[in-house]
Parts: sequence; structure tokens; C-alpha cells
Amino acid sequence: MRQRYAVIGNPIAHSKSPLIHAAFARQTGADLEYGRLLAEPDDFEGTVRRFFGDGGRGLNVTVPFKEQAFRLADEHSPGAAAAGAVNTLIPLPGGRLRGDNTDGVGLVRDLRENHGFAFAGRRLLLLGAGGAARGVLRPLLETGLKELLIANRTAARATALADAAADLGAVSGCGLTDLGGTDFDLIINATAAGLTGAVPPLPPRCLAPGAWTYDLLYGDRPTPFCCWGRAHGAAQALDGLGMLVEQAAESFRLWRGIMPQTAPVIELLRPTQ
Ligand code: ATR
Repeated sequence: MRQRYAVIGNPIAHSKSPLIHAAFARQTGADLEYGRLLAEPDDFEGTVRRFFGDGGRGLNVTVPFKEQAFRLADEHSPGAAAAGAVNTLIPLPGGRLRGDNTDGVGLVRDLRENHGFAFAGRRLLLLGAGGAARGVLRPLLETGLKELLIANRTAARATALADAAADLGAVSGCGLTDLGGTDFDLIINATAAGLTGAVPPLPPRCLAPGAWTYDLLYGDRPTPFCCWGRAHGAAQALDGLGMLVEQAAESFRLWRGIMPQTAPVIELLRPTQ
């Protein structure tokens, strides 16, 4: 029987994960099927248990279930533990589940390997302090960067997130309105502002010469934050498509022990602009 995988969420119809994993399967000669699984808000656990009870080999978890998946998992990778959120579920013997979080690894890989960003000695600004920011924080702090500032609309959430990660590196938090006078080499947008077409309010001059911007969101058209980066002279204004494919590749590797090639899949999904 073909090995079964899926992405679970609500809504789920828009997810590109099945396309990505089908491409990985073709590339690696794997006989697998990867579908979309819609879970009702009050039946996440039941849907997961039925999937694995029926022999499912792995699940990706997306909005709004990543925190519930964390609670459901019996054991966690260090990345998932730090994020308090799980995007990859791996079945273990005896019906137990391991939870991992590949989002941050995907972001760092996209920046470093696909685009050649050198983290060492750089000053980074991370916008947002919700689930998306938490998911990428630990891998970012492990890159050798010089300094990371988390800025959030609600300042207290940023300082709390920074305090919780203080043992991992030079990280601090503040409110968006406290920014000013500091040049950053990379600004990462992990806020949900783009979902409503907005951009977090930023001081006009916070990009150092040659600085990059990166939006965790992606779309068929440049996201509002990509447009902001371009308008403010970013040397590169990237969106989260590469991260999406890289986090999928890391999940594939965790399930199947083989790392697929991501570049052709990013090309495949990149809309012609
Ligand atoms: P996610 O899982 O996508 O991170 P979340 O946990 O609800 O979702 O967090 C959303 C993040 O986007 C928060 O950092 C939020 O700021 P607050 O903590 O102050 O709510 C941020 N956010 C949402 N809309 C925003 C906007 N219009 N401008 C700036 N930040 C915004």
C-alpha cells in the first residue's frame, strides 16, 4: 500500500504542501500519497488519531492547530519545545507521537543556502511575537548572528519572548514604537499584518546599507512587506516561498531519512511576475 502523509489545518484547501511533497516524491522515487486533511476546530485530536490509526506515516500541521499539536505530541524536538508549537508529527511505536518544528530551520536554510545570507556578526530585527515569531526564534539565535531585537506592537509580548530565549544568545525585546536610530542588516516580518494588507509601522531609516528584508508570508504577488523592503532600498526583499519549501523538505527528511532538492521545487512554485 502507498504510504500516506497529509497536511492538517482549517482551512486547508489553499495549501501548497501536497504539490511540494508530490514533487519530492517524484524526485526521490517514493511511492507515497500526500493529501489535505480538514479538521473541525473541536476534533483536531480525533482527526489526528484516526489518520495515524489508519496507518498514516506523517502529518504536517498548519493554522490554527500548531499549539494543539504541541500538546498532543508525547515527545518534542528541541526546536518544537522552544517554539511551543509543532508543524510535523512523526508516529512512534505504541501509538505515541513525536512533534517537531521545521519552520525555523526552513527559514534559516532559505536565507543561508538559497540566497547566501551570512549571519555571522549581523544585527537582526524580528517583527512580531506571536506563534510565527516563536517558531523561528531558536534557529535564528543559533546562526552566529551578533544581535537580535524582537519588536512587537504589544511590547510586553516581545520582551517576554526575548527573556524566555535569553540563554540562547543576545536577544532583547521592545515595542514597534520604541524602534529608532538602529540600523539592521536583516528585518524579518513575522507579524500577521500582511494578511490584511498592512505593514508594521517602522521608522523610515532602520535598514543598514545593503540590508535585506524577509517576509514569512508569501503570495502570488509581492507581499506588502516585500513592497516596503523594495521601496526602502533593501538589497533583497524576499518572501516566504523558499521557507515554505525548505520546511517541507526538512519534514520529508525527518519522515523518510532523505533530503530532497528544494531549488527545482521553489522554481516550480514561483509565480512568473
Ligand atoms: P501568528 O501565529 O501568525 O504569529 P499570532 O500568534 O496571533 O499569529 O500573532 C500575530 C502577530 O502579528 C503578533 O505579533 C501581533 O502583534 P500583537 O502581539 O501586538 O497582537 C502581530 N500583528 C498582527 N496585526 C498587526 C498589525 N496590523 N501591525 C503590527 N503587528 C501586527
